[in-house]
Amino acid sequence: MGGFLVRGGERIWGEIRVDAAKNAVLPILAAAILPNGQTLLRNCPHLSDVESMRGILHTLGCKTEWTDEGLVIYGDMLSKGEMPEHLSKRVRSSIFLLGPILARMRKAAMVYPGGCEIGLRPIDLHLSGLRRMGVSIREEGGVLYCDGSKMHAADVHLDYPSVGATENVMMSAVLLDGTTTITNAAREPEIEDLQRYINAMGGNVCGAGTDTVVVKGVKALHGGEYEPMPDRIVTGTYLCAAAITGGAVTLRNARAGDLRAVLDKLMEMGCALREEENLIALAAPCRLKAFHQVQTQPYPGFPTDMQSQMLALASVAKGSSVIIENVFENRFAMVGDLRRMGADIRVAGRAAFVQGKECLCGAQVQSHDLRAGAALVLAALKAEGETLVRDVHFIDRGYEKMEERLRMLGADIRRITAEENA
Ligand code: UD1
Repeated sequence: MGGFLVRGGERIWGEIRVDAAKNAVLPILAAAILPNGQTLLRNCPHLSDVESMRGILHTLGCKTEWTDEGLVIYGDMLSKGEMPEHLSKRVRSSIFLLGPILARMRKAAMVYPGGCEIGLRPIDLHLSGLRRMGVSIREEGGVLYCDGSKMHAADVHLDYPSVGATENVMMSAVLLDGTTTITNAAREPEIEDLQRYINAMGGNVCGAGTDTVVVKGVKALHGGEYEPMPDRIVTGTYLCAAAITGGAVTLRNARAGDLRAVLDKLMEMGCALREEENLIALAAPCRLKAFHQVQTQPYPGFPTDMQSQMLALASVAKGSSVIIENVFENRFAMVGDLRRMGADIRVAGRAAFVQGKECLCGAQVQSHDLRAGAALVLAALKAEGETLVRDVHFIDRGYEKMEERLRMLGADIRRITAEENA
């Protein structure tokens, strides 16, 4: 697998534009099979997760194509309800298609979805939400067979505010007669974005962004175009790249309101921030200060997808920091790699105790998941000497051409192929 070769020590400095959010685009790609027409997704990022979803859509009979304006999805061409095993296993967001396929075809089949290995990531909340709406689900040989012939609107209470389950139930309900109410819904901004997309195509959803989402069924959706929200995690990651190297960046197409918990921590670490409409600028001190504590929580709490990046920052900050991971159980898998680079981190259960070092040293490290991979690149930018971050296909799932963006911002980083890596 390919890697990034990073020579640390360069300050990250300059301006870039943030792409549309992966976590908004993936559910919208699933929802795009609901309209009786095409969807043009403007500013859609070129990510391997997007390609995997395209692959699944193609096997379901839907054509998709990249144009100069974005990605066009011919959702109305849907002709099959069975998701191919190899693709469902590769990408967790295949689960998003279950609700929309049922809404359109009343029958669906898939194997358990895959994705980054950041925890058990069960799908029980998705399935219990669908069952509540009258879907009968049976498992046979690892395949889930879903029969939605008796599907109906319902009141669905989620035991935990799962982002994906909220989105799945929302999408399933769009074309049903009557009103579906989801309580204890997740409040992430990407759910609001999905609501905006569905409504732009003629749907009637309200409440996304709060813990109660109300979906009033409509007869049909029409096609149209839509520009998904900017990626708040990509935004946060590039802010961290400037922060860890004592640099300064301006990010356009970036929304501070979606990133409040992260921006507060960066300020606590000594960074100066300027916020304008659709713009965030950060100037970092020569050395970051430790933060008291980061605890990951569902939105609007600190996002779990920014936890690894904060671990990298804490590793070189002055003083000691504590990070508590409450959302996914396996998200400290990269601690061993940071230690190899000289970081002083002790993990006890869900907590990581970090004693900041003045600097890290280059080493050979391995991406374990998307965000951990990005965090290792951040650490490498600060480390003395050369770092090889392996398995960057994880990073390609959620960051478009990360090495090119960082090079534009002054980093000494290049992609090496699997052969060079061997
Ligand atoms: C989404 C994001 C992911 C982010 C996560 C939490 C997308 C494509 N991915 O993932 O980047 O890290 O939100 O902000 O939007 N859970 C269950 N049963 C379920 C579903 C979830 O127990 O049926 C658990 C999970 O194991 C996890 C927690 O709930 O511990 C949160 O998961 P969830 O909010 O569903 O995350 P995803 O939608 O998978």
